[in-house]
Amino acid sequence: MYKKNNLELKKEKLYINSKLINTPIILVGMMGVGKTAIGKLLAASLNREFYDIDTNIEKNYNLKINDIFELYGEKKFRKIEQNEIKNIKKNSKLIVATGGGAFTFKNNYEIINKIGLSIWIKANAKIIKKRVKKNIKKRPMLKVNNLDDYINNLLKTRNPIYANAKIHIESMNISKQQMCNKIIIAIKEYL
Ligand code: S3P
Repeated sequence: MYKKNNLELKKEKLYINSKLINTPIILVGMMGVGKTAIGKLLAASLNREFYDIDTNIEKNYNLKINDIFELYGEKKFRKIEQNEIKNIKKNSKLIVATGGGAFTFKNNYEIINKIGLSIWIKANAKIIKKRVKKNIKKRPMLKVNNLDDYINNLLKTRNPIYANAKIHIESMNISKQQMCNKIIIAIKEYL
């Protein structure tokens, strides 16, 4: 389904931008599913600006997410993150990548769904474990003894909340560009 020719994709992009004139597209989902990388491609494809919540937090605080967790703890991070979410420009053409816990904390999913079109990039535990292992040190949530159990449990609690996203896309063994095309087709079908 994600294999469409360039002309067909071009038509879908035009359609999306004409329908979603003032609606940010917000990518949600677990660590390691590729929200940032896919978000950048999606922004380039749809001729939109890319905005990464965690990168913006790091810029504003001049600290890495890891350091924020270490210095102030997760509770404070979630407060900062919620403020950032509330500050996403409502009437914009942004493509927003969120951190893995952003959609699932308190009523953030409701806030996000009011601001824009949420897309859940969904992946199973096996894929997530494989991907996060590559840069585990950058992820404060993963400083745990038993990574397998931890991720299984996190998915159990988070998946039902991610399910509140408007569009669900299964992460597959395809390139990031193909995932991006798959998302474009799914948005077009949703509209
Ligand atoms: C988190 C995911 C991270 C980052 C923070 C907390 C989480 O973002 O926001 O470390 O709770 O899942 P990524 O999903 O980009 O790794």
